[in-house]
Amino acid sequence: MNIFALTGAGVSAESGLGTFRDKDGVWTKYDLNDVATPEGFARNPALVRDFYNARRANLAGAQPNAAHAALARLETALAARGGELFLCTQNVDDLHEKAGSGRVIHMHGELAVTRCHHCAATWPDTGSLSADTVCAACGRAGGARPHVVWFGEIPLFMDAIEDALARADLFVSIGTSGSVYPAAGFVAEARAMGIATCELNLEPSANAYVFDEKRYGAASAVVPAWVEGVIAGL
Ligand code: OAD
Repeated sequence: MNIFALTGAGVSAESGLGTFRDKDGVWTKYDLNDVATPEGFARNPALVRDFYNARRANLAGAQPNAAHAALARLETALAARGGELFLCTQNVDDLHEKAGSGRVIHMHGELAVTRCHHCAATWPDTGSLSADTVCAACGRAGGARPHVVWFGEIPLFMDAIEDALARADLFVSIGTSGSVYPAAGFVAEARAMGIATCELNLEPSANAYVFDEKRYGAASAVVPAWVEGVIAGL
């Protein structure tokens, strides 16, 4: 059995990382045009670096929760039976990896990676983004930005994602509001290909009506229960 799992900020909420669109979410405190667009970075790079430096500091102390752990168990269980969990996350945190998931597709990039805005070189970096950083690849300073996909930029790994969707037997969406495309459109694509679809979220998402099966509640409870059911049925 091949399962395509799409995760969003809700899976990390109980690890202390804020979501974006809930009450008190990140986008209720910051204008995404200022901190999550190439134009915002061009206007005020210091503001953008400060924003992501605070998020890096917050991530350093975060631990995975029971939902991340359950998805790592599912990957192992499917692989043991010749199947696959394709874990595609919109999250830029590393909590799936910390929980033991072996392959995580970060379609919106990774917070703990720095990218040179001049030449697109990337390098692992949990320290602070600085205007003084000199890129080892092109030798230029001033281009250090987070390796995070901003609005107006193209998500990563789209070819691998489309291939994985096409070979999936089940599509599951976990902890995402279904507001940001292309990820929000995966469920409709899956449905059009005749793939079973399931939503696990705190509350119905924007496209809840498209899903065959829905379970609502905190990820730390709903995801492990759902995973145990899937494993029992393998
Ligand atoms: P959102 O903040 O839009 O949605 C989070 C979802 O998680 C909501 O539907 C909540 O109901 C749900 N949720 C909250 N707490 C939960 C919990 N404990 N258990 C289960 N579900 C919970 O976040 P995303 O859908 O991930 O993109 O946002 C998608 C993209 O928009 C992000 O990747 C980011 C953002 O702008 C970029 O930065 C490019």
